[in-house]
Amino acid sequence: MNSHEIGSRNPKRSSDILRFIDQVEKTLASSGKFGRFGGIVVPETLITCLKKLEAEFNLVLHDPEFQNELSIALKDYLGRETPLYLVERLTNYYKNENGEGPKIYLKREDLTYGGAHKINNAIAQAMLTKRMGRKIIVTTTGAGEHGVATAAACAKLGLDCTIFMGNKDMERQPSNVHLGAQVKSMFGTFKDATSEAIRNWVENLEGSYYLAGTTVGPHPFLSMVREFQTVIGKETREQAMEKCGGKPDVLVSCVRSGLNALGLFQQFVRDENVRLIGVEAVGNGIDSGNHSATLAKGKVGVYHGTMSYRLQDDENQIIEPHSVRVGLEYLGVSPELSFLKDIGRAEFYSATDEEALEAYTRLCRLEGIFPALEAAYALAYLEKLCPGLANGTKVVVNCSGLGDKDAAMVFKYQQGKIKSGHKESN
Ligand SMILES: Cc1ncc(COP(=O)(O)O)c(C=O)c1O
Repeated sequence: MNSHEIGSRNPKRSSDILRFIDQVEKTLASSGKFGRFGGIVVPETLITCLKKLEAEFNLVLHDPEFQNELSIALKDYLGRETPLYLVERLTNYYKNENGEGPKIYLKREDLTYGGAHKINNAIAQAMLTKRMGRKIIVTTTGAGEHGVATAAACAKLGLDCTIFMGNKDMERQPSNVHLGAQVKSMFGTFKDATSEAIRNWVENLEGSYYLAGTTVGPHPFLSMVREFQTVIGKETREQAMEKCGGKPDVLVSCVRSGLNALGLFQQFVRDENVRLIGVEAVGNGIDSGNHSATLAKGKVGVYHGTMSYRLQDDENQIIEPHSVRVGLEYLGVSPELSFLKDIGRAEFYSATDEEALEAYTRLCRLEGIFPALEAAYALAYLEKLCPGLANGTKVVVNCSGLGDKDAAMVFKYQQGKIKSGHKESN
């Protein structure tokens, strides 16, 4: 079977799933493809630049000096490792009348410097930029976290930083990106800002660097971002062995484009008895036509230089995504998650804005932890998941960020000033 056929059907059989995963791993470095997804779908003029980047990335992967510098930054600048924390009161909340239920753990990415998982990847790519002798970074942010992470990494490394942000996202999520970065507002949302950042980068390919904030875009961005984010899963694996005496049984993450989900899942992809669950945001509901459920409702197409599921209509025109959370709106999704969905290795479900807002409040009330609203979509799915799980099942939810940024929105929601499924601005 050639790589085009992988993932083009849904095998479900365990031996097929592992074979497909192994096949992709063998060819990924050269093709950047996950079955029929991923790859490089860009104009000829960009190829040389992407090839240079790929070569440099392959070098740093095996360079002890770079790896040592990175692990010091992760530990001393970002404050890793982040805890794997048993949320006892939430665990009790999901117990049945016989006192039985799963054990719920949070991977506390909210405790990373900057308050979200984004910085794991941003710091590593900024170090790579410096190593390549470039001095200018351009990037884009939706909810602001990747912007803060990149601005911090650039300040630390003495790099010039420009961040593009859609004016609609800026209104909804006033950004706290300072740290010496230049923030450029442009008309639209995250997808428009991403296109603008890439255009800006293309104008100065030799001098600048486009710092991809998530697992979309042409190869080698897909492999790079995934590699730099996999620290979440590596830590989780070790911590679970130590704290729970074995691997987790179920991993749950919210999904916009896939950074935090792959960061957690990647290390467990070959452990077939570990369930991988991604939760997409669906506004008022999956059939409301007002959602960000790219994996559930998307069609295969090319977007931002790569092949994956994307939200598009019957004429192949893109459809605007929606969520009450800016950080979950994107009309494309990671090619790797698209592949894992197609081969039946990962499961994808959805949560409405209302369910997420309730999950946010529940975690605050029971545990005194503000999850980022994005992570609250993952937490919301526990309502459906937990009743069906055997006693003692170990569930890890990726608490991908800190939710103090969302407190005002949740307060307004609670006061009835905003309705779920409704964007505050635009
Ligand atoms: C805290 C947080 N979690 C999750 C996400 C979703 O993005 P991804 O699926 O790329 O991890 C975002 C996006 O901005 C975010 O800020």
